[in-house]
Amino acid sequence: MLTEVARLQSSSLSSGEVKMIEIPENADKLTALVIRTNTGVYGWLNACPHDGRRLCQDPAYLIKRKTGLIQCMHHQATFDPESGVCDDGPCLGDKLREVKTIEKDGQIIVLM
Ligand code: FES
Repeated sequence: MLTEVARLQSSSLSSGEVKMIEIPENADKLTALVIRTNTGVYGWLNACPHDGRRLCQDPAYLIKRKTGLIQCMHHQATFDPESGVCDDGPCLGDKLREVKTIEKDGQIIVLM
């Protein structure tokens, strides 16, 4: 069963922006990344399917400006921010682990 781990104001996340969310009570100190694109809000675990390292330390540098794709800071794998699928790099075809997000009543609820 999913439980709420964070809640953001919708207005705090503009299109193309990313927020990093702390996940409470996780020994691995994993974080979640919440991204707004032109089509909606998407959540992904901040862990690269290549070898499990963090995709980014600072969410300001997660999205490649020229392409709008998520880029892992380690070996530069790129991922579609809406499907989470890797389209280039050592984990080609793999997918980021989804973190469920729901946007309603002016808020973004993050569930895990
Ligand atoms: S750890 Fe992300 S591409 Fe290698």
